[in-house]
Amino acid sequence: MKTILVVHGPNLDLLGKREPAIYGSTTLKEIDKRLKALARKNKVRLAIVQSNHEGGIVDLIGHSRGKFDALVINPAAYTHTSVAIRDAIAASDIPTIEIHLSNIYAREEFRQTSLIAPVCVGQISGFGADSYLLGLQAACLLKGKTRKRS
Ligand code: DQA
Repeated sequence: MKTILVVHGPNLDLLGKREPAIYGSTTLKEIDKRLKALARKNKVRLAIVQSNHEGGIVDLIGHSRGKFDALVINPAAYTHTSVAIRDAIAASDIPTIEIHLSNIYAREEFRQTSLIAPVCVGQISGFGADSYLLGLQAACLLKGKTRKRS
């Protein structure tokens, strides 16, 4: 059975209340519920973590090597700033899918650059809460052997 790690970056714990015109009114709890249902349907195991701290995300990814078959991450604001998270993903050797609720290419110029995308298999951006489900679906479709978990 594949094991997939989902990481929600900073301020995503505020979903539902946070700028609903941009991010929608679905809460993170509801998104996680939908992800778990899709994981059950696809027969994959899921671990879900939300963190507002760059170092915490770096530690998490650093310790995930060999434990997960894929990573689905919304790095949120760190998308545009974090060389550390990018390097952690590159070092982890875990196929990674970057996701965003909003279409970052249709927003402010500073959001139109992702430091993370070049170390990912691909990116899904602009489908609201469904971006997460599309990201998980993409992770399930990735080829490759299921990793042995330590
Ligand atoms: C976001 C887009 C980022 O630019 C922003 O900082 C976020 C959320 C998104 O999901 O659309 O926090 O990653």
